[in-house]
Amino acid sequence: MDAIGYWQPCQVTRHSGCICSSSPEGAIGNGNYWTGEAQSDMRIGTIKLDNNLILAPMAGVTDRPFRQLCRRLGAGLAVSEMISSNKTLWGSRKTIRRLDFNGEPGPVAVQIVGSEPAAMARAARMNADNGAQIIDINMGCPAKKVCKADAGSALLRNESLVADIIGAVVAAVDIPVTLKIRTGWDKQSRNGTRIARIAKQEGISALAVHGRTRACGFAGSAEYETIRNIKQSVDLPVIANGDIDTPEKALQVLRSTGADGLMIGRAAQGRPWVFREIAHYIETGEHLAHPTPEQVGELLCEHLQNLYSFYGTKQGVRVARKHIAWYSKRQQNSILFRQKINTTDSADQQLLLIRQFFIQPGGERGVAA
Ligand SMILES: Cc1cc2nc3c(=O)[nH]c(=O)nc-3n(C[C@H](O)[C@H](O)[C@H](O)COP(=O)(O)O)c2cc1C
Repeated sequence: MDAIGYWQPCQVTRHSGCICSSSPEGAIGNGNYWTGEAQSDMRIGTIKLDNNLILAPMAGVTDRPFRQLCRRLGAGLAVSEMISSNKTLWGSRKTIRRLDFNGEPGPVAVQIVGSEPAAMARAARMNADNGAQIIDINMGCPAKKVCKADAGSALLRNESLVADIIGAVVAAVDIPVTLKIRTGWDKQSRNGTRIARIAKQEGISALAVHGRTRACGFAGSAEYETIRNIKQSVDLPVIANGDIDTPEKALQVLRSTGADGLMIGRAAQGRPWVFREIAHYIETGEHLAHPTPEQVGELLCEHLQNLYSFYGTKQGVRVARKHIAWYSKRQQNSILFRQKINTTDSADQQLLLIRQFFIQPGGERGVAA
């Protein structure tokens, strides 16, 4: 099957890129998970999602080209990079780009970050006026710069401010508002359950929980039991997040947490098709074949072309480097390839080297994973 054909919807699930080998009958009969613990009709307020797999907001990663790619390859929702509530930054090139949802399939979900209720309310309104259909409040970011300004996960230490911010944002817009949190500031003060109740009370429509405290950073494993406790303590759609990187893990997290949906971040880097792999496995109990290196190469070239037109060639080439590293890291001989490709500032050369590595017969790489 050629690269284009690989990403076409299949007859079994209609997921893009399915090359499922099972018969439709067999697949449907084989453990359709949506009829079990998970909900097939994931809703955020009045908005129905295509499925319950959500691309996590990642600053510097989930720009419009990447969100569009993940949506095309099976994500039911893709949340934007965070946008500061600080009005003075809204005119910056960086924020203007982050506010660009041109051509993006709905629902458009925009994450806002800040620490003052009035400013957060104003940011929510600005984004709603600009086309956002869901506002997500960031109370999970562990970055020092963000926490020093008492925003992101630092807010978890101040429950009354959490209530004030949520209340102000919910009152400011007539679109659903979601909240993203960690399980608490540190292991001694895990208050995710209390935050969830506040969220419900103040009108949040869905809650995403990264199963780590702020102090944990990205160390250790995500605490799915804490997510389960949060889910059990509140009548809200809960989205489990943290370390979900395979179809099996996705199914296990859905089952063990009882969550309504899953949020996937790092596993989508260089592997935006992870959503359709997970969706297909959950629906059918079958694994999709991995894309071949040629198919990965074609997809990467397309992704890069979109980055060049979104950022302009000069910046696009620089932004592309991290994506190239992620796409190629599972291939053999990728270290040499990356060393070579990182020396070029030319978009044409970047594309040529990718074709030589991934696509040309005899290219020195191994299989995609
Ligand atoms: C590069 C990077 C940038 C991130 N930026 C944000 C952000 O802007 N807002 C946010 O709420 N979380 C952010 N996160 C956290 C992710 O949304 C997610 O909660 C975390 O990566 C855990 O999920 P994962 O194990 O699937 O990656 C970021 C994570 C990474 C790796």
